[in-house]
Amino acid sequence: MMKRRYRDSQSQGQPRHKWRYNPEGDSGFLKDEKPTNLITQVADYYSARTNKTLEQREASPIIHLKKLNNWIKSVLIQLYARRGDSVLDLACGKGGDLIKWDKAMIGYYVGIDIAAGSVEDCRTRYNGDADHHQRRNKCSFPARLIVGDCFDLKVPFDRVLERDAPFDICSCQFAMHYSWSNEARARRALANVSALLRPGGTFIGTMPDANVIIKKLREAEGLEISNSVYSIHFGEEFARKKFKSSSPFGIKYNFQLEDAVDCPEWIVAFNVFKKMAEEYGLDLVLVKNFHEFVYDFMKNPEFVELMRRLGALGDGSPDQSTISPDEWEVANLYLAFVLRKRGQPDRARANNRVQREHTHIAKEDIMVIRSED
Ligand SMILES: C[S@@+](CC[C@H](N)C(=O)[O-])C[C@H]1O[C@@H](n2cnc3c(N)ncnc32)[C@H](O)[C@@H]1O
Repeated sequence: MMKRRYRDSQSQGQPRHKWRYNPEGDSGFLKDEKPTNLITQVADYYSARTNKTLEQREASPIIHLKKLNNWIKSVLIQLYARRGDSVLDLACGKGGDLIKWDKAMIGYYVGIDIAAGSVEDCRTRYNGDADHHQRRNKCSFPARLIVGDCFDLKVPFDRVLERDAPFDICSCQFAMHYSWSNEARARRALANVSALLRPGGTFIGTMPDANVIIKKLREAEGLEISNSVYSIHFGEEFARKKFKSSSPFGIKYNFQLEDAVDCPEWIVAFNVFKKMAEEYGLDLVLVKNFHEFVYDFMKNPEFVELMRRLGALGDGSPDQSTISPDEWEVANLYLAFVLRKRGQPDRARANNRVQREHTHIAKEDIMVIRSED
């Protein structure tokens, strides 16, 4: 594997902003648990997750939720991806969206994830190699895969991806909240997206809906909210269940989702996210809690048919299983968003993009970026 080290970043500077660092709040957070340790914990957790056979997957207690999540991501991709688009998939994981991008007939794909094991699985999927006896189709678009921390302050992604950018679409599915461990990382995440998208380009994503989580927390007796498939636990530092609007970063909780997640995550206050995104030239196009998303897009017969095919709600026949109330409650903990980068497309720059032909990725083609502490 190719390895790179970066000592400092040449990425664009941070714009002026309203939310100032809260040294007291941040140092309190840093004293107990260094974000670096938590970031490693997240990376190790996802890297260690093994692939499942089709039978194991179907037996998962959250299989319908997983199918619903796939439906939501598919709808976002179908709505915003155009044939030939160049796509940047931040926190691409095991490449669970590769088939969706292939169906959208994109022209180029770059996937980045902090978990080396997941990127290796993504490579296998991309190449169409059989996995657990599952036949897979090879992806038809050229691609590049990178192991790295998408929100690292020391990694200048605009330089790393200089020959790949600008992208028409940036996608960050179920991962943006990992950047909210502190303000600098949250800003770096948005700065990276903005620097790499073309003017007029689209940023699509899904992440926890902080409004719902905080509301449930306040309604709960203790510091935990849960049902049979998930639990969210806040530390004693949040015993008063009050969150200062002056320090919206570093609000950590532990999230466990049966058969899917078990690691630290951070609250993303959407109003702050929206305003901060505007500072980086990214304007809100759409935000919908998953429940609202389902109700709204199920009015479209094309997406009803897609839902039937994916089987998240069963296939309509009475003997078919469907999403359970507990899974549906978890869906309510998430939202989908779409942002658009301000400006008009710069055709000259888009045409400069390096033409890539290959549709096979070897192990040694994966670039590994390690930043120095
Ligand atoms: C819930 S999974 C989602 C994976 C994929 N986007 C999907 O929808 O299938 C979250 C992913 O975020 C990745 N991740 C977490 N923090 C990251 C970081 N700082 N940089 C890159 N990837 C990160 C994890 O390794 C994991 O693959």
